This record gives sequence, C-alpha cells and structure tokens, in this order.
Amino acid sequence: MAESLPPTKSPKPVQQLAAEACKQVPENYIQSKDADIQPSCPLLDLASIDLSLLSSSTPSPAREKELSKLRSTLSSCGCFQAINHGISDDFLDKVGEIGKSFFALPMEEKQKYGRSPDDTEGYGNDSVLSEHQILDWTDRLYLTVSPEEQIKYNLWPANPENFREVLKEYIKKLTALNELLLKAIALSLNLEENSFVNQFGDRDRASKVARFNFYPPCPSPDLVLGVKPHADGTVLTFLLQNKDVEGLQVLKDGQWFRVPIVPYAIVVNVGDQAEIMTNGVLKSPVHRVVTNTERERNTLAVFFCPDSNSEIGPVEKLITEERPRLYRNTRNFVGLFFQNYQQGKRPLDVVRI
Ligand code: OGA
Ligand code: NI
Repeated sequence: MAESLPPTKSPKPVQQLAAEACKQVPENYIQSKDADIQPSCPLLDLASIDLSLLSSSTPSPAREKELSKLRSTLSSCGCFQAINHGISDDFLDKVGEIGKSFFALPMEEKQKYGRSPDDTEGYGNDSVLSEHQILDWTDRLYLTVSPEEQIKYNLWPANPENFREVLKEYIKKLTALNELLLKAIALSLNLEENSFVNQFGDRDRASKVARFNFYPPCPSPDLVLGVKPHADGTVLTFLLQNKDVEGLQVLKDGQWFRVPIVPYAIVVNVGDQAEIMTNGVLKSPVHRVVTNTERERNTLAVFFCPDSNSEIGPVEKLITEERPRLYRNTRNFVGLFFQNYQQGKRPLDVVRI
C-alpha cells in the first residue's frame, strides 16, 4: 500500500514542537475556520456492549437484546464501548504502558524506528504531500502486525523490553474479539454468521495494523486538531484510550460529540469496509481528535482489514429493491484509503455507485 505514495517530507516530531514551549503553534497546524473545533461539545451517550453475552452460542433473551443494541448503535453512530471483553485490566495497563514508555524514550532512540519518507510504517507523523496541507498535532508509531511476512521488525522498538511480546499478545486477543464481533454483527442483521468472516479471505493473511498515537499538550486547542476528521478504512477498529484524558469526537447527525472514557472498555468502531459489506446499513463514523493545553494523551488504535487480495463487497442479502447496491466490489481498499486520506477525501466516494 505504501508503494503508491509519492515521496514526502517528514515534519518535526510534534513532541519536540510542544517541548520547545512554543506559545505559537506553527502555521501549518492551524485549521481553517470551517473546521469548527469545539473542544467541549456535548458528550455522546455511547452504548456499552457486553461481549460476554455475545459469545454464548445458544440464543437467549439477553443475547438477543445485546444483538439488537449492537445493530442499533452501529447503524446510528458506528461505534460502541466493548465491556466484559475478557481482557484483564492488568493486561490493558501493560498495553497502555508500552506505548507510553516508547514515546517517553529520548528522541534519538525513537528516531531509530523513524518512518522513511516513502513509507507509512514506523515512528513519525503526517506525510506531507502538499504545501497547503494542515498537519495533525500527533506523533505515531505505526506497525504492521499481520500478515507475518509483512512485519518490519526493524521498526519494532527494542525498548520497552516487553514491547513485542505484549503487542503480539494483545493482537491475538483482539483477533478473537474481531471474529466474535463479525459474527455477532452478521447475526444482528439476520445474516448467516460467517457472512463477513468469509470476506476476510485467508485468516493468516488478514491485515492487522497497530497505531500508537501520542498527543502532546497543545497551546491552541481551539485552532489545532490532534487528528483531522476521517473515517477508518477498516472493517473494525479497536481503540484503547487513556483512562483519563478525553480527546476523541464522533460526528453524529451532523453534530460533533465527545466520546466518553470508560476505563478498561475498548472503543470499537466500524470502518468503511464494514459500511461497504453491509451495503450502507452500518455507518463508518467520521471522527476526529481534539487537543488540550494540560495533559498528554496516548491511545492505541488497532485496525482489522481483510487480506488485501481478497475481494470485498456488499452481502447479497443486503441488496434489495428498497436498498439497491450502493458500492462496487473492491480489493485492497486500504491502498485507496491512503491515496485519499491526506487530501481529506473519503475513499468510500470512490467505490460508491
Ligand atoms: C485513529 C484514530 C483516535 C484517537 O488512529 O484512526 O481515530 O483517539 N484515533 O487516538
Ligand atoms: Ni480513526
């Protein structure tokens, strides 16, 4: 997917800009007035889904209720808080800690894992593709975790020492949740359980990417965004947030809402590929990240996508007379995503009929 990107310049780490205590943020981070940044917009009343109820294989009233809640939240705002997911608090603390420890390393140490200008992977920030591009107030560590032969271990930090082991273990646990949820979502839409799992193609070749996001405090939260509005190019995204620093906002019915923090819950959202597979029944939510003047924020987003060679498209049963086919079948949607992302264009529009 990186092959299609033109060569780029990498800007200075945002962490460094923040440390230089610049009262004035560089101009290329300032959003236009249309961005309508509202750091304190209303709080979203976000559904919590109890995954332990979804995992039982026998139908029960409690499971039916959870499935209908799942369908309702995914077709209205595209996301939910996953609770009772079976991953222990202690382990989630470890996962949060490996990201924090990495960004706390000296700059020279982090630069060893620096993203090369023509790649998306490694430590760095936005690819600068045009002079007028407005940059995000964030540094990232972006790593492919699957398929195995695409992993670039030279970009995986040696510090903290348990980085590799903890990340691998976390992805293994999320892989089980991904499958559980894909099946539950299919059932909630009255489809055959494997309708979406089957579109993943060869399981060992599914694409799983981890993105550690680091948002330093920002002197101008009303002018700058941590991440500009976007929808994810995934089927499902799993986001582990700081336990106590908010920042994520979701667009629902044309209005921005803050996503509340529920400690040890994992925020799950559907991405564009889920919107395609469900022929638009589920909405891939547009979201963004705001900054604050006081506290740094760390998050870990894990992106699940089918094998890039696998063809995906709307499930036949969801194409009806009332709901004609909205999207073309496609392969390597993630490639399309990166061609459009920095220009703020939605790749969904490219496959829309
Ligand atoms: C992302 C994302 C949100 C956050 O990485 O795609 O939307 O709160 N992150 O870090
Ligand atoms: Ni996102």
